[in-house]
Amino acid sequence: CWSVDNDVDSEKNYPQIVEASQLLKEGEVIAFPTETVYGLGANAMSDAAVSKIFAAKGRPADNPLIVHISNMGQLELLTRDIPETAARLMAQFWPGPLTLILKKKPDAVSSLTTAGLDTVAVRMPDHPVALALIDAAGVPVAAPSANKSGKPSPTSASHVLADLDGLIAGVVDGGPTGVGVESTVLDCTTEVPVILRPGGLSKEDIERVIEHVEQDPALKLSEAAPKSPGMKYRHYAPSAPLFLADGDKEWIQELIDQKRDSGLKVGVLAPEESASFYSADAVAVCGSRADLKSVAHSLYHALRSFDEKNLDIIYAEVYPVQGVGAAIMNRLEKAAAHRKITKGKN
Ligand code: TXA
Ligand code: MG
Repeated sequence: CWSVDNDVDSEKNYPQIVEASQLLKEGEVIAFPTETVYGLGANAMSDAAVSKIFAAKGRPADNPLIVHISNMGQLELLTRDIPETAARLMAQFWPGPLTLILKKKPDAVSSLTTAGLDTVAVRMPDHPVALALIDAAGVPVAAPSANKSGKPSPTSASHVLADLDGLIAGVVDGGPTGVGVESTVLDCTTEVPVILRPGGLSKEDIERVIEHVEQDPALKLSEAAPKSPGMKYRHYAPSAPLFLADGDKEWIQELIDQKRDSGLKVGVLAPEESASFYSADAVAVCGSRADLKSVAHSLYHALRSFDEKNLDIIYAEVYPVQGVGAAIMNRLEKAAAHRKITKGKN
């Protein structure tokens, strides 16, 4: 594990980054910070290197990876086809938490990276350490989130080590990540771009730059097959079953009390406005309802914190599906496997 300051500047050639990039060049996998979550990187062009990512994560081979670039020149290695809308979004939001699905240039990146698809997912992360590392490696870096498949994405180096210590060549520790949820994945290969995964960049922000954007209908229906392969897997889940609880805090406390009366250990996930109200076996606080970005920032840390507590059941408050709230609710619904209790309905 190498610690680096976030004011890193590639010109200074931080020895930790040089060492980590050397390992990337040699075909090893390295975890590194981005502005969203930690990524687990390997040379996107190399079958041998990319296969180590799938092995370390226990990731299904049909789930493609995002290719991270540090300059626009690297885009030419990946695609020949940049629609006008995609170009506008890149100009506006890169570097940043937006991943674009583009037509893949034949025989360019490893077909393991793209899981055999004829498209490639690309993003330029807004993090000085990530950019310096990719620059120093000199190749596009394929990187999924640096967690074991199924676990919440890591927002600190300690989360990465909890899941992958001993399975990867190293972690560049740049401290906790800022955004806290993954990038928004936008398919730009169709006439009207489609959001395949809500994330750090909101639909409202995208609509300020391009007129029309749709959402993959599968995001609404848990049964339908999503176009983004990764969205079909159970994900982000703590070990104990999680239930979304849509109602006021007094009603949620009654749910908690009923379970505790029957001898179960109960956790609750709540924002700071209501967290101190609850009495439960574990209360995890995630940000403030008044600032959904603060909820996104601490969501995965809060979900992970339940695993040390040996709980039988967890209740989570719900949030408005606006701005980054769309990503928060998408992750919570997946963590809950769509189990939801609504006051007055159940
Ligand atoms: O913020 C992020 O996006 C983080 C950081 C590390 O950059 N990365 C991340 O990667 O979340 P991962 O692998 O956990 O999620 C990538 C998502 C998956 O849902 C995957 O199926 C989808 O992007 N994806 C990748 N390539 C695709 C493609 N060609 N077509 C459709 N979906 C694709
Ligand atoms: Mg992931």
